[in-house]
Amino acid sequence: SDTDLTSVLAGARLLPVLTVPNADAAAPLAAALVAGGARCAEVTFRTPDAEQVLKAMAAHGGLTVGAGTVLTPEQAERAVAAGARFVVSPGFDEGVVSRCRELGVPVVPGIATATELMRALRAGVGTVKLFPAESLGGLRTLRALAAPFPQARFVPTGGIGADLLAGYLAEPSVMAVGGSWMVTTAHLERGDYDAIRRLTAEAVEGSTP
Ligand code: 3PG
Repeated sequence: SDTDLTSVLAGARLLPVLTVPNADAAAPLAAALVAGGARCAEVTFRTPDAEQVLKAMAAHGGLTVGAGTVLTPEQAERAVAAGARFVVSPGFDEGVVSRCRELGVPVVPGIATATELMRALRAGVGTVKLFPAESLGGLRTLRALAAPFPQARFVPTGGIGADLLAGYLAEPSVMAVGGSWMVTTAHLERGDYDAIRRLTAEAVEGSTP
């Protein structure tokens, strides 16, 4: 299932991270992301409506929608039931990884240290989320962590904005970059789907060679 993940994330290179308070936003948000050229998105399990948002966005078509902030095996189950095609977690939990494997859905666990990366690799995970990337030291830390683990692929996320996107994507170890800068709470509160579309289009443009 790492192959599926590779085709989605490595092809897209950009993973918009969405925290959506209200399921009413799902359809216009999906439309804005698709119009901006996004190919996938991560719906975080941080809001009560997350499952409904995921369902609606997956139904919209045109986007490969995954679940984020998945902390427990039970949440992984709910995410997949709601239509998640991949699962992202801020940290590494063996229970989450093994449940995702049982469910046949690719999982991208978070790591912040070499020890966590070694655990993930031992669990058969080849692609990890470096989180929180900028707070951990950004590119310098990514390069230092990637050096001893040439088999690992990274999805750095956390504190990354449009200005830092190209630098991360230029790293051979980076499969894709995640971030919420294209879809903020303020955008959603204002219903500013035009800004979402524009910021997504700029990021997509900045992430394709
Ligand atoms: C996540 O859950 O991946 C992060 O909240 C995204 O990080 P960012 O908001 O700093 O982009």
